[in-house]
Amino acid sequence: MAGDGYKVGVLGATGLVGTTILELLAKREFPVAELRPLASARSAGKQIEWGSKSLTVQEVSDESIEGLDLVLSSAGGSVSAEWTPKLVAAGATVVDNTSYWRMHDDVPLVVAEVNPDALEGHKGIIANPNCSTMQMVVALKPLHDAAGIERLVISTYQAVSGTGKGAIDELRAQARAVVGGYDVPPAEIYPHQIAFNALPQAGSFPEGDDHTDEERKLINETRKILGDAEIRVSATCIRVPVETGHSEAVNVETREPLEPARARELLAAAPGVTVLDDPAAGRYPMAIDAAGKDDVFVGRIRRDPGNEKAIDIWVVSDNLRKGAATNTVQLGELLIQRGLLNRG
Ligand SMILES: NC(=O)c1ccc[n+]([C@@H]2O[C@H](COP(=O)([O-])OP(=O)(O)OC[C@H]3O[C@@H](n4cnc5c(N)ncnc54)[C@H](OP(=O)(O)O)[C@@H]3O)[C@@H](O)[C@H]2O)c1
Repeated sequence: MAGDGYKVGVLGATGLVGTTILELLAKREFPVAELRPLASARSAGKQIEWGSKSLTVQEVSDESIEGLDLVLSSAGGSVSAEWTPKLVAAGATVVDNTSYWRMHDDVPLVVAEVNPDALEGHKGIIANPNCSTMQMVVALKPLHDAAGIERLVISTYQAVSGTGKGAIDELRAQARAVVGGYDVPPAEIYPHQIAFNALPQAGSFPEGDDHTDEERKLINETRKILGDAEIRVSATCIRVPVETGHSEAVNVETREPLEPARARELLAAAPGVTVLDDPAAGRYPMAIDAAGKDDVFVGRIRRDPGNEKAIDIWVVSDNLRKGAATNTVQLGELLIQRGLLNRG
């Protein structure tokens, strides 16, 4: 700690997640003595306005990472693979947003409202879960504590901002062309046109796997965060032409009986959750309402008519906020509150 705050680096500071992290650090009055925006050589020298300050983006390098207490990192898996060990060796604690470290045994995978105690054993790296997993486990935690989750059947409807800045540009360019009656520019980020379409492929298919990596993340990360390897998970991840806000239909089968009314009460009392559940009045969570907010919104809570041990819920959250940046900053706050920085 230096002076009245910490030396904080944001790696990937020019990206969608990094930009949101910078906004939240200011909004939540994070105790920052020095803020260092880091990115690739492409953005080095660029100015970023942060509160009343103008900060210069630096290329991540052995020199530019010196002396940092905390680094909030979202620059892609290969950047994390290379730079996280160097950041830890240089003395920083790293909260990493990419998938690279999440399933490593000695790296805690932490959601602030769900398993904050997992931070205690960290060795310098803390992983921030995948966005679709993050919002879902915030809603599942109170149900799991009350009745034990036996099985989940999940369908996601994922926004394009989950794929980064380039994907928003692709959706907008294609949508303008369709509406304007021009030739639609070819898909570059996604395998097919995303505008006015729904793609049954979010992420990519690893060699020999009939599930996408995004679907595997939902399966594996959910079990790790909830600390229960027995939970059975079926996941289908769909990319939809929504800019921000992932939506998820989740069928939750429990080990003990759980009435929908009790689930509604548990969810209403859960930290980080807002229940919006008056469907006859048109009140239920929607991506356009969740965008720009930190909470996870849950609605359409009802009995599965085909399974008396299951309920259906609809879970929506801003993938850039709780799905990424909000949890990252919350973990930074928890590390400070618990005296857990610089222990790597
Ligand atoms: N979007 C989401 O909802 C979400 C949610 C959870 C996790 N994540 C993860 O967070 C990461 C970033 O996502 P994003 O949506 O913010 O992507 P993005 O908008 O494409 O931004 C990527 C950022 O990484 C930087 N970067 C790229 N290559 C680099 C390199 N070689 N060295 C240093 N910096 C480099 C970029 O800097 P330049 O400006 O210099 O290119 C930019 O700041 C990804 O791993 C993603 O999976 C995203």
